[in-house]
Amino acid sequence: MTYEINQDIQEIIRRIGRDNINFKDKTILVTGGAGFLGSWMCDVLVTQGANCICVDNLSSGRYENISHLKGKSNFKFINHDIATPIYFGESSNPNALSVPEIEKIDIVMHLASRASPFEFKIYPIQILKSNTLGTWIALGIAKIHNALFFFTSTSEVYGNPPPEKIPTPETYYGNVNPIGPRGCYDEAKRAGEAYVKAYELQHEIKTKIVRIFNTSGPRIRHGFEYGRVVPNFINQALNDEDITVFGDGSQTRSFTYVVDEIEGFLKIVGKENTLGEVINLGNDKQFTILELAEIIIELTGSNSKITFKPLPKDDPLRRSPDLTKAKRLLNWEPTTSLRQGLTKTIAWFKSNGK
Ligand SMILES: NC(=O)c1ccc[n+]([C@@H]2O[C@H](COP(=O)([O-])OP(=O)(O)OC[C@H]3O[C@@H](n4cnc5c(N)ncnc54)[C@H](O)[C@@H]3O)[C@@H](O)[C@H]2O)c1
Repeated sequence: MTYEINQDIQEIIRRIGRDNINFKDKTILVTGGAGFLGSWMCDVLVTQGANCICVDNLSSGRYENISHLKGKSNFKFINHDIATPIYFGESSNPNALSVPEIEKIDIVMHLASRASPFEFKIYPIQILKSNTLGTWIALGIAKIHNALFFFTSTSEVYGNPPPEKIPTPETYYGNVNPIGPRGCYDEAKRAGEAYVKAYELQHEIKTKIVRIFNTSGPRIRHGFEYGRVVPNFINQALNDEDITVFGDGSQTRSFTYVVDEIEGFLKIVGKENTLGEVINLGNDKQFTILELAEIIIELTGSNSKITFKPLPKDDPLRRSPDLTKAKRLLNWEPTTSLRQGLTKTIAWFKSNGK
């Protein structure tokens, strides 16, 4: 199978089109737009005729994800760290990057953050800053422009929920270790959500928050060092290397294909009834990590063997979203099966380097 990303972009546009969601002529800032999810967002927005401004410091993102958009009149890339000031329009702050030619922003989508467990060890300060200072700066842009603000939070705000909180509803407050190895990410996202709510309360900014559950697909960053389970297993399988499962592999995860997730993001952003809401988006069908490894071995036709390593500290044992709210407000649910999503992702890996 060869993989054509444009078909998936068109599929997202078709799906949101059923709800008349169209961002044509809106000016939209996407922080983290050169990353996995951000670049899909930029692709849909540019295709729909929005003016898309991508701010990214290329820390975990790749310029190749957006290089095909270069030269389009409705796309602009700015290489910048969102944890440091940036102004759209005239700025009197000499320490801020000023982008005077963009005078009005309608929507700010804040996605910028390193997000893989491997990076938690190496860049914990940058991760904290992207989600706290970066969220604060992005909210400031929304405030100045009276723009809608969309924040990409994470299922990790729930930490390690007790069995009775699986699937996890948005009303669950979380069980998070602030000083553990995942604290920099989990607590930064929790603080990011608190910033969003503070701006909504104090400055009457229109806000929406999505809590994303494990999502993968073409363009997800790969390489074993990156530390996300789906790209790691695919890489190992394509190279006939041992597939390393942490623990005994009985821990579960739910896996969402990028098309379903981006459709959900754009429905949250585009619909009126989601104002001020925080919404889980993911797949509620759980698979054990061992099942995932076996399916990937089968789909790649790999000779890899499965090996086991100790479970990392504070790794959540079960993860599954309660999607009641997403179904009610968005009329959304994931429709791509794990096998369908993996088949496309594997095809993309094969043609874009293992
Ligand atoms: N993919 C998932 O399963 C998942 C799950 C939960 C939450 N999220 C969230 O979704 C967002 C996007 O994640 P992704 O999977 O696309 O990851 P990614 O690493 O591919 O994308 C993140 C992007 O943000 C950029 N970035 C990081 N720090 C920045 C900074 N300070 N200034 C400017 N740019 C910066 C990176 O260069 C990269 O392009 C992140 O906020 C992440 O926490 C993703």
